Amino acid sequence: MALTRIGIIGAGTMGSGIAIASAAHGCEVTLVDQSSEAVAKAKKTAESFWGRAVEKGRMSADDAAAATARIQGTASVAELADRELVIEAVFEDFDLKAKVFGELGGVLPADCVVATNTSCLKVSELAAHITRPERFLGLHYFSPAQVNPIVEVVRGEQTSPATFDAAMDFCRATGKTPLPCLDQYGFAINRFFCPYTNEAARALDDGLGTTAEIDKVAQEVLGAAGGPFLVMNLIKPRVNLHAIQNLGPLGDFYAPAQSMTKVGEADQDWEIGEAGEIEEARFTAIADRLRRGMFLPALQELDENVADPDVIDLGAREALKLKNPPCALMDRLGADEVRRIIAPALEHFGIPEPKALARVGGLTA
Ligand SMILES: NC(=O)c1ccc[n+]([C@@H]2O[C@H](COP(=O)([O-])OP(=O)(O)OC[C@H]3O[C@@H](n4cnc5c(N)ncnc54)[C@H](O)[C@@H]3O)[C@@H](O)[C@H]2O)c1
Repeated sequence: MALTRIGIIGAGTMGSGIAIASAAHGCEVTLVDQSSEAVAKAKKTAESFWGRAVEKGRMSADDAAAATARIQGTASVAELADRELVIEAVFEDFDLKAKVFGELGGVLPADCVVATNTSCLKVSELAAHITRPERFLGLHYFSPAQVNPIVEVVRGEQTSPATFDAAMDFCRATGKTPLPCLDQYGFAINRFFCPYTNEAARALDDGLGTTAEIDKVAQEVLGAAGGPFLVMNLIKPRVNLHAIQNLGPLGDFYAPAQSMTKVGEADQDWEIGEAGEIEEARFTAIADRLRRGMFLPALQELDENVADPDVIDLGAREALKLKNPPCALMDRLGADEVRRIIAPALEHFGIPEPKALARVGGLTA
């Protein structure tokens, strides 16, 4: 059954973006926020989003007006009683989300799918506060949700196959690329993206290169549109630090680098100058660090069945704009070279060799 009557709780950055993405594809959206200003701002954001589309000739004024009218704002969850899918996007606070789910219990129809847009909390732990946990899962959008094509579809321990399939279909029907994954810290993408940025900062801390040089190596070796420091400045080092800290339970390899903590806590941007020529030995040392930052977590992710190689690579291509995504790159390099690249981290952090290393060479079709 197609999910077209949508409720969204939290009309902030993410809630408003998800509302626009859904209404743009014909969904009727009820947007709930405790703050009437947030609802008004979200509706304004939607209006200007479609206003720009009209100006650029991508949409008729009538279609823009119809899309805007498909988003209704309210302060009351009671208005979600006829919804088919409700997506929670309130502040990242476990107790607050649990309270919101508690309020939904007596309101939603029995067959309503409920999703959380949490970045860091465990979907399976939030499920304890949901009346029908088999109809609950994670839908992790990327900012700005109105344009970013990626959504991680996170299967909780109790999520039923029908719920999962309905959510995958909803993503496709609203123009998104769904990335199916399990409920592990960092889901499919942050699991390897964060350590990649962290290894870049460790390379900086160890004096292997400047930020500009490390970015340059990333562009050449990984086919990155922008290197890790440039990307961190776009998403903000403070936000990136928080995302890395969330991976802490996965072990010391994931602990933030010294400079990452310093720049993130000071809420500064990385200073990026000009990169000159980088001699071969240093180029290889930096390249190894960056590839290690992606390869090791990607292999661990495969061992834990968090996501398939094609999902990891699709996320890397679409969300991170890497021309050489980790699984395809590992296949190209071969298991021996990948082992050489990750070995120092295995030894330093006492990590067992990932079993998926044996599959390198045949991870991708
Ligand atoms: N911002 C990002 O880049 C990003 C990306 C992916 C996921 N997320 C996740 O999405 C969620 C929302 O993040 P955001 O950046 O949109 O936050 P935000 O601060 O922009 O918006 C949160 C909104 O929730 C509302 N709210 C709080 N308590 C409420 C309640 N009880 N009932 C109704 N509304 C309530 C607030 O008024 C606010 O408008 C978080 O879980 C966050 O981790 C954020």
